[in-house]
Amino acid sequence: MAASLQLNFKPLKPRLLHAKPASKSAPKFSSIRCSAATLSKSYTLTLLPGDGIGPEVISVAKNALQLVGSVEGIEFKFKEMPMGGAALDLTGVPLPEETLSAAKESDAVLLGAIGGYKWDNNEKHLKPETGLLQLRAGLQVFANLRPATVLPQLVDASTLKKEVAEGVDLMVVRELTGGIYFGKPRGFGKNENGEETGFNTEVYAANELGIDHVGCRVIVVENNNIQFVVENGNASMLWRKIVTNIASEFPDVELSHMYVDNAAMQLVRNPKQFDTIVTNNIFGDILSDEASMITGSIGMLPSASLGASGPGLFEPIHGSAPDIAGQDKANPLATVLSAAMLLKYGLGEEKAAQRIEAAVFDALDRGYRTGDIYSAGLKLVGCKEMGEEVLKSIDSKVAAAV
Ligand code: IPM
Ligand code: MG
Repeated sequence: MAASLQLNFKPLKPRLLHAKPASKSAPKFSSIRCSAATLSKSYTLTLLPGDGIGPEVISVAKNALQLVGSVEGIEFKFKEMPMGGAALDLTGVPLPEETLSAAKESDAVLLGAIGGYKWDNNEKHLKPETGLLQLRAGLQVFANLRPATVLPQLVDASTLKKEVAEGVDLMVVRELTGGIYFGKPRGFGKNENGEETGFNTEVYAANELGIDHVGCRVIVVENNNIQFVVENGNASMLWRKIVTNIASEFPDVELSHMYVDNAAMQLVRNPKQFDTIVTNNIFGDILSDEASMITGSIGMLPSASLGASGPGLFEPIHGSAPDIAGQDKANPLATVLSAAMLLKYGLGEEKAAQRIEAAVFDALDRGYRTGDIYSAGLKLVGCKEMGEEVLKSIDSKVAAAV
């Protein structure tokens, strides 16, 4: 993981609560049960499984959280709520008020994926994706961290040559609640020739750019450098002026500017030159998908979306993959790694986060692969079995340490 994955822009104090008995639905792994620490902390997590492969990957991540919680003395109370297409079918809207309230009241939110063919032709306000944008806006999670790390075990799964991909460890910091996704005016109309038009607005107000502070603080920790990616428009020019001012408060940060077309090209030419890419909502969406392929599979990449306060939103960057939904073929690791980001950035539970990451790497070291990261000679498994292997790794590492 990018060494720069540390934030100090919001306090991450563990909330110490009363000792609570272990949850009844804890996974069935055994050896840690005897060594489990007394549960001393309790967190409420909202789970939003969503659509397609979402429920499958969330179920794996939930088990991993429960198991690691029992090791670290943390109780998780899960509240599962409908979101996206599942919510549309159930309630007629993609983000029911109850779901947003539950999310706001919890300590952190873990989302699977949303969307599917069934709702593709819905009107805009009734699309699952609209629910996701409403959730991000509702939680005011303006800073989206998307690490893209090429793991040594998966270097051959990269679409780039080994020598180009090896050692890549970068982070896209994407502005998440502004820009063209939310800008007004937007809509459909007619031009002076009577032709139909569609329009959106890329707009940023100076006070929306809290993202820059996050970006600078993310990278300042490790004496890293920022590539600030823009194009030549007015919103970008304002942003460039502001980020340059903010960066001057962080003398250890090396800030360079790059146009987005060049950044897209450089990412596949020489991705190791990148450390932290700070960029707007739309470019961050595109560049993070591009970066994901360098790592081998979008099925491996987690994300964290954070605001100045309140619960963070954690989700894999992949979509709902309706073509493989319900077939036990999904790669759950991006969601498991999102749970690790939740522990680290959302709850300040660094040790538990490390346990989950270590277990993922261990399962990969032991040769287990879902279809998207499979190569000859390794063990091809489905979503559930990959989950079981991660649990075994958590279990065996605890047993080894006892
Ligand atoms: C992502 C997705 C979303 C986005 C869609 C589903 C609205 O592509 O999280 O990257 O564009 O932000
Ligand atoms: Mg995207």
